[in-house]
Amino acid sequence: MAAVAVVTLLLLLAVASVARGGVTSTYRRRLQALPDMPLDADVFRPPAGFNAPEQGGFRRYSYGRKYRSGFIYHATLTGLEHATKYHYAVGSGTTARAFSFTTPPKPGPDVPYKFGLIGDLGQTFHSNDTLTHYEASGADAVLFIGDLSYADNHPDHDNNRWDTWARFVERSVAYQPWIWTTGNHELDFAPELGETMPFKPFTNRYPTPFKASGSTRPLWYSVRMASAHVIVLASYAAYGKYTPQWTWLQGELKRVDRKVTPWLLVCVHSPWYNSNGYHYMEGESMRVEFERWLVDAKADVVLAGHVHSYERTHRVSNVAYDIANGMATPVFNRSAPVYINIGDGGNIEGLADNFRWPQPEYSAFREASFGHATLQIMNRTHAYYEWHRNSDGVKVVADHAWFTNRYWMPTDTN
Ligand SMILES: [Fe+2]
Repeated sequence: MAAVAVVTLLLLLAVASVARGGVTSTYRRRLQALPDMPLDADVFRPPAGFNAPEQGGFRRYSYGRKYRSGFIYHATLTGLEHATKYHYAVGSGTTARAFSFTTPPKPGPDVPYKFGLIGDLGQTFHSNDTLTHYEASGADAVLFIGDLSYADNHPDHDNNRWDTWARFVERSVAYQPWIWTTGNHELDFAPELGETMPFKPFTNRYPTPFKASGSTRPLWYSVRMASAHVIVLASYAAYGKYTPQWTWLQGELKRVDRKVTPWLLVCVHSPWYNSNGYHYMEGESMRVEFERWLVDAKADVVLAGHVHSYERTHRVSNVAYDIANGMATPVFNRSAPVYINIGDGGNIEGLADNFRWPQPEYSAFREASFGHATLQIMNRTHAYYEWHRNSDGVKVVADHAWFTNRYWMPTDTN
């Protein structure tokens, strides 16, 4: 009897020891490079008159030998009220087009808000599915995790593809906040074309509110929206010790007030935890530089893209290593964030489907499919997260989890 009990106990222990293991979904899409939607696709059609996103006023830039942008107009609105719908029009006379947006509610600890999470979108038919499904989610704002247009995959970085991308996403971007993270496809660094200023098309087209958070460059900054403090980092700008980004982040983490904005979310393009062979460990040097800070700050979620696949981790950290102790394995850490790779927007480069085996213990769920996610903050303690696979109906969710807040309710599960 005792032997049976011991055997049973051992089995239970064996089950318990693997209970934190992850799932590699068996769902598979056909792997292939994807063409961008044709230039005459309906989603790229320019409106009548001179009021397409790239046709405003005041700002033009040239790129390479052939491209010169239309006039691009940036307007900064001040004195806006929270949680208020504003209507605006672009253009004049018979070609003016009307839009509207709703400002986020005033920051507060229990203010509900729903974020859409999209990365590596591009402009293929799959990108169109992703955006369409996101629009049906009812979310209030998008945290965009980098790699917008993939114009640089076309000859001479054809910047007409930046124009088409703007027209493609206008149906959402014109109506609600999109918080921009920069990816490698925003670099557009092309000495062979005479283009040596990184981020030239991006910074001419997509302004960010970096000055409001004391940042000195548009590539790293923060915003407070409802009950969330969102920090955007730049994988492709210097982040080593004493660099401007490093100095800013050190100060910014001290400015986070979890009593006002309980949810601390971090956006960065290149993932720190990624079990796909594609772009494996590219985010490692930044993880080494900043991970301890985010664990000490009890960040809730770190969002990344870059890898064209989906992955969600358990709460792990890898900060014990001191070069001599050999402790360089990610371990469960209730103060650590969940890492989500959402680089599955559906761009021209196709899917990344070479997961590393065995699936690491830190990896909770992974799947090589296109899609988007949403993070619905309910109050200071709970947020509901779900990932949506494009290939299903718009109401089907392929991965989901409840997250509890690391400051107000740091449970051992999510
Ligand atoms: Fe990328």
